[in-house]
Amino acid sequence: MTTASEGAELTQVGPGTPMGRVMRHYWLPALLSSELERDGPPTRFMLLGEKLLAFRDSAGRVGVLDHRCPHRCASLFLGRNEQGGLRCVYHGWKFDVAGSCLDMPNLTEDQEFRHKVKAKAYRVVERAGLVWVHMGEGEPAGLPGFEILDMPADEINVHMMQRDCNWLQALEGEIDTAHFGFLHGGHVDPDDVPENDPFYFTITNRAPQYHVSDAPWGTQYAGYRAAGQGRTYWRFANFLFPCWSQAPNGEFQSHMHARGWVPLDDGHTMFVFIWWKKARSAQALPQPTFKDGRPIGGTGRGGIRMLPNTTDWLGRWRLALNEGNDWGIDRDKQRRNEIYTGIDGIHLQDQAITESMGPVTHFAFEHLAPSDQMITRTRRRLLKAARALQETGEAPPGAADPAVYRAARSGYFLSPEGEAPWREVYDRTLASSAHPPG
Ligand code: FES
Ligand SMILES: [Fe+2]
Repeated sequence: MTTASEGAELTQVGPGTPMGRVMRHYWLPALLSSELERDGPPTRFMLLGEKLLAFRDSAGRVGVLDHRCPHRCASLFLGRNEQGGLRCVYHGWKFDVAGSCLDMPNLTEDQEFRHKVKAKAYRVVERAGLVWVHMGEGEPAGLPGFEILDMPADEINVHMMQRDCNWLQALEGEIDTAHFGFLHGGHVDPDDVPENDPFYFTITNRAPQYHVSDAPWGTQYAGYRAAGQGRTYWRFANFLFPCWSQAPNGEFQSHMHARGWVPLDDGHTMFVFIWWKKARSAQALPQPTFKDGRPIGGTGRGGIRMLPNTTDWLGRWRLALNEGNDWGIDRDKQRRNEIYTGIDGIHLQDQAITESMGPVTHFAFEHLAPSDQMITRTRRRLLKAARALQETGEAPPGAADPAVYRAARSGYFLSPEGEAPWREVYDRTLASSAHPPG
């Protein structure tokens, strides 16, 4: 069980909080590169509870700054992005992408002190169509060594979708593996799923067995079920520090992807989905099918409609269906068991269920079960890392050694044998899955 104070330790991400300190050891994807236009207006956004601005200067470089001007704290959002920097419209001070002050035009030459003033700026790199930000002190190690980030840029797709709840809650929706046969597939009659469909076993056996353990990058589980003829159907998935998941819903051999649950503030999360276009089961939002090719989770058509982005702090990449319209629940479809939830589409079902818990889970209200062991272990791993950082300064997993992510993959596969040591099965299958896979 997780106490209320442990819950606060896990979920709060502002400066100086235990998890906020952990998060500040990593590069986090904050914006799509395509959101920033050269010399275009600055974009407001939030990251780890801080109000920030991003802008692209005349040379194409991206700057990420605290939105307050270091002179009198006016918002640089109102500023002019001109000739290599962002100029505050209050008294004209101008800052480059590193926060250095280039100009103090309201002061005489003998008064100005621009070399002594800096806007608060964070480190930025662009990779895979994303703007990555590092909000920590000291020289950071590289980006997480996900195999997907080694792929050529034109083979990588990225998507962002905001979720109105805490980052951990959103992430736990991913590693809560037992929900698939209910939330997404509760209406599916096992007889309607073709036996060669990878989801056949998920639907026919809704209470699989699990192995869960720590991994160099965080935690890992394998759900497994007997699959007839002495075979085993495996579904591997990962939690990766500080806020990533790799889901099992793709064919393991080519399922290169990473799913970020990036905290905007304590009650809002940006889902950042990075996936390989050439994966054999590649789909932006996998929609397994049953009877006559009907998608299991509903048509999915309503689920990913986006609202137009606004300039609000939390105005980017929001879904049109949300708590305000009950995520579009169709009670008739629910009653007729056409879609178990009455909510259309797997992503939207996950979105609705995690948002329905409220902005931050009330941990003392929960009753976790043996089927939640991946969640329990992941919380323990996070708390341990946060406490080690606090007490001894030990860097959290992967922060100083991004290569640990390289051996992390998830997905489903059939192995010819029955019961077998699960980590061996994983290592063997990964080794036989070439990188990049053919
Ligand atoms: S507040 Fe920005 S220049 Fe004065
Ligand atoms: Fe789900």
